[in-house]
Amino acid sequence: MPHEVAPLAEPLMAALRAILGPRGIITDPADLEPHLSDWRGLYRGASPALIRPASTEELSAALKLLYDADIPVVPQGGNTSMVGGAMPDESGRQVILSLSRMNRIRDIDPVDMTMVAEAGVVLKTAQDAAAGAGCLFPLSLGAEGTATIGGVLSTNAGGNTTVRYGNARELMLGLEIVLPDGGVINGLRRLRKDNTGYALRHLMVGAEGSLGIITAAVLRLFPRPRAEAIALCAVESEDAALSLFRRFRDRDETAVRAFEYMSGTGMDFALKHIEGATLPLSERADHYVLVDLASSRPDADLRGLMEAVLEEALDAGEVLDAALAESEAQRHAIWRLREEHPEAQKREGASVKNDVSVPVSKVPEMIRRCSDALRELIPGSRPVPFGHMGDGNIHMNLEQPEGMDPAEFLARSHDIMDCVNAIVRELDGSFSAEHGIGRLKPDMLADWRGGAELGAMLRIKAALDPKGLLNPGKVLPA
Ligand code: FAD
Ligand code: MLT
Ligand code: ZN
Repeated sequence: MPHEVAPLAEPLMAALRAILGPRGIITDPADLEPHLSDWRGLYRGASPALIRPASTEELSAALKLLYDADIPVVPQGGNTSMVGGAMPDESGRQVILSLSRMNRIRDIDPVDMTMVAEAGVVLKTAQDAAAGAGCLFPLSLGAEGTATIGGVLSTNAGGNTTVRYGNARELMLGLEIVLPDGGVINGLRRLRKDNTGYALRHLMVGAEGSLGIITAAVLRLFPRPRAEAIALCAVESEDAALSLFRRFRDRDETAVRAFEYMSGTGMDFALKHIEGATLPLSERADHYVLVDLASSRPDADLRGLMEAVLEEALDAGEVLDAALAESEAQRHAIWRLREEHPEAQKREGASVKNDVSVPVSKVPEMIRRCSDALRELIPGSRPVPFGHMGDGNIHMNLEQPEGMDPAEFLARSHDIMDCVNAIVRELDGSFSAEHGIGRLKPDMLADWRGGAELGAMLRIKAALDPKGLLNPGKVLPA
């Protein structure tokens, strides 16, 4: 049933319209609809309005009005959050803020190797613009056609290339920020060195819209790759996958652009549900690895490196079979098998996600122990571990048993997450590697980061957002 909405008072609406113009405020329920539920279908909220400022000045003035009127605001980028971070709650009071009209790339500088992009720029657009200038913006993830620069910075997104280029934080040099009361911090500095007081820009990255609004960013660019080699390998075990990673890293650490693990179950789902997907190997396996090597040196012999390492690993019995991409189409097809894992898992039925990380050395043990424990917890359930093995970040997801009522399975979500988290804690890991806390995990944050650490976070929030109006109910426990 739809939740009740608390409409904004008419004088406030009129003042907002005067600032934002007719295109800058949406109240029609049909137009609001796509903004009220999340990609995973975990949450459904209600909101009286969505505001779409066209500039930092408009946003600053509108936020000040909302702040003075005690109206809570929920920033929303591409709405691909895996933890309900961009969802308004059910109160019907929270205004949604979209930066979709602030979608200009203000500048690309191939000497400084920087791009200044507004928060509403879609990640793929930023990648393409960098490529158009002969450079690379390396952040890459399955949702890149929808996720925005504001969203990936606010979640400190990781993705497929973290092993080489780092998380979103490492790709950011400066930020323009609007504070909850409308104050503007112009920190669009494109400096490699800038030790001038507290690094507020880093506080905003990963804050999930709870401390301020990111309106624009200076992003780091890199030389574009001129040589590439990509392979899909069937490997003997989780340990063999880790051993293969070490073989590549030891030969040439700088060559590894991505190293992604996939289980047999996840690959089966991708082959079953993704149109046109085929396995480029002679037979199915229980474990796969996607190895992606890249170099900006045109003479780099990455194919030679790939073949030499795979041959060693085949001789050692770690790799069972491997397919090297021979064309752009084959590279794309191999990556698609990995990128479509979340979609394939969704189509298979209900699933619970566990975006966890452990020290890289403990990944095989974590996958094995969690898979066994989950199968025991819910007989017939299907563990689907996959993801960024080179970073120690595995999506230790669980698919419902075939034929089980999805609602009955999802009712066990907390047991499932607790089961995985208990093992991850023993292995010195984290309960949220790259997706953040959002609305799903504030209680876990309190449990894992309590005491002085949580106390400091609460004081920072109170200092920057004393009325608690920015993205309430997210990140921090009530
Ligand atoms: P939203 O989902 O709209 O928002 C995310 C958070 O940021 C919310 O808390 C929101 O309030 C806040 N926010 C948004 N814009 C701003 C702003 N301008 N200022 C302040 N706060 C803001 N994540 C990874 O890290 N790695 C992956 O590999 C990965 N793969 C994914 C694959 C799929 C298919 C999907 C659906 C999601 C995936 N994600 C991944 C999760 C998601 O975190 C990223 O897609 C992305 O970081 C979110 O960007 P967005 O623009 O959609 O942000
Ligand atoms: C991915 O890497 O594809 C997503 O972050 C994982 C997920 O959907 O669980
Ligand atoms: Zn991921």
